[in-house]
Amino acid sequence: MSFLRGSCCALGGSVSDIPSMAEQVLVIGGGGREHALAWKLAQSPHVKHVFVAPGNAGTADNGKISNAAVPVSDHAALAQFCRDQDIRLVVVGPEVPLAAGVVDDLTAAGIRCFGPTAKAAQLESSKSFSKAFFERHGIPTARWKAFTEPKAACSFINSANFPALVVKASGLAAGKGVIVASTKAEACKAVTEMMQDKSFGTAGETVVVEELLEGEEISCLCFTDGVTVAPMPPAQDHKRLLDGDEGPNTGGMGAYCPAPQISKDLLQQIRDTVLQKTVDGMRKEGVPYLGVLYAGLMLTKDGPKVLEFNCRFGDPECQVILPLLQSDLYEVMQAVVDKRLSSSLPAWLEGSAAVTVVMASQGYPGAYPKGLEITGLAQAQQLGLEVFHAGTALWDGRVVTSGGRVLTVTALGHDLPTALQQANRGVASIHFQGAIYRKDIGARAIAFLRQSR
Ligand code: AMP
Ligand code: GLY
Repeated sequence: MSFLRGSCCALGGSVSDIPSMAEQVLVIGGGGREHALAWKLAQSPHVKHVFVAPGNAGTADNGKISNAAVPVSDHAALAQFCRDQDIRLVVVGPEVPLAAGVVDDLTAAGIRCFGPTAKAAQLESSKSFSKAFFERHGIPTARWKAFTEPKAACSFINSANFPALVVKASGLAAGKGVIVASTKAEACKAVTEMMQDKSFGTAGETVVVEELLEGEEISCLCFTDGVTVAPMPPAQDHKRLLDGDEGPNTGGMGAYCPAPQISKDLLQQIRDTVLQKTVDGMRKEGVPYLGVLYAGLMLTKDGPKVLEFNCRFGDPECQVILPLLQSDLYEVMQAVVDKRLSSSLPAWLEGSAAVTVVMASQGYPGAYPKGLEITGLAQAQQLGLEVFHAGTALWDGRVVTSGGRVLTVTALGHDLPTALQQANRGVASIHFQGAIYRKDIGARAIAFLRQSR
């Protein structure tokens, strides 16, 4: 029996009149985040079955969870699938379908969806939109300017008196469209590559140039129904590939939650000056934001500043936040969709910590092999851990690698060091050729805890 299974306690919101085990849910996506979402939703007594499209080997025929062969970019086919299967809630994991308007189209077809509309998702899909929004609403962020002409961008770079610069493709670039430049020449080169060479396709047609921020990076997420903001415990991702924050940026190599660097007072400040301000601003601008709002923050010496917004759960942050959610995720999501979150606020486990360690394919974030057999999954589960699959597939009944980030091993403990030790034990029991993973997830938080004792 792995941790927390069956321990989810319903808050008793106003969907509790729904007969137990009546509902079918569809989760869109195929990564570790979507496996974790399906895992948590399947714990709800309201939920009979969770489909995941496209899913992975971990969500294929796993108790109440199975994969659905429906093309997620074809919104008409998705709507038909939802009608055929009597889907009562669609939960959208990744940003691309949100930016493509899946929530707009399914809602128009009468299907209940958890996630923002395409217009609201611009907070993530257009950095020039989000930076201008921050400015209109006094939300703390790095000083910046947006450009559609490379010449203008380079002359700004050459005249800017920021100590260092960051160049960002404005559109969605799978977390790769950000170049931290150590010289002005490097920043101009990044502009040219994005705008003229189209290294990020249309995502780089507009670029944002901003000052480099220094400090600890933290992910602060909340549920929101467009009015009420319910913060989740803060988490920290580890974006670099290698120990000691070395190597290239990745989608995230591991995370822990809660992040002890964020005190209750600081979380309250972030809630008021970033999350609530954003939700109120979007509503006042006629674009109500519903779903999960994720603020990527830098804790600078001048206070927290927003690096970016994401319009969905983080991956791998989701894999450490959901194990700490005491409430029924299905009830919380339904309360968001019905705009009654204030009467169904989520409750979180106190006195516990979660850690997840990503195991990735050799070569990631560049090219990597596929089809390598993964062994030891059952042993990790016997240790009481959750293994959330990402780039995995089933071939002739064997679980094999099929992506860059292959899986994440999540442990829950009474404190961070205990959870970390457990997660590392799980990682040691799982094998595939060339597996890479970080051994220092949470190390800075543990050092912070020691220092503040
Ligand atoms: P973004 O997609 O904007 O979050 O950027 C991806 C990553 O680049 C962030 O998670 C940070 O690690 C880094 N980054 C982005 N903007 C800045 C900045 N202004 N200063 C320092 N690092 C940044
Ligand atoms: N872990 C960072 C992200 O999901 O964007």
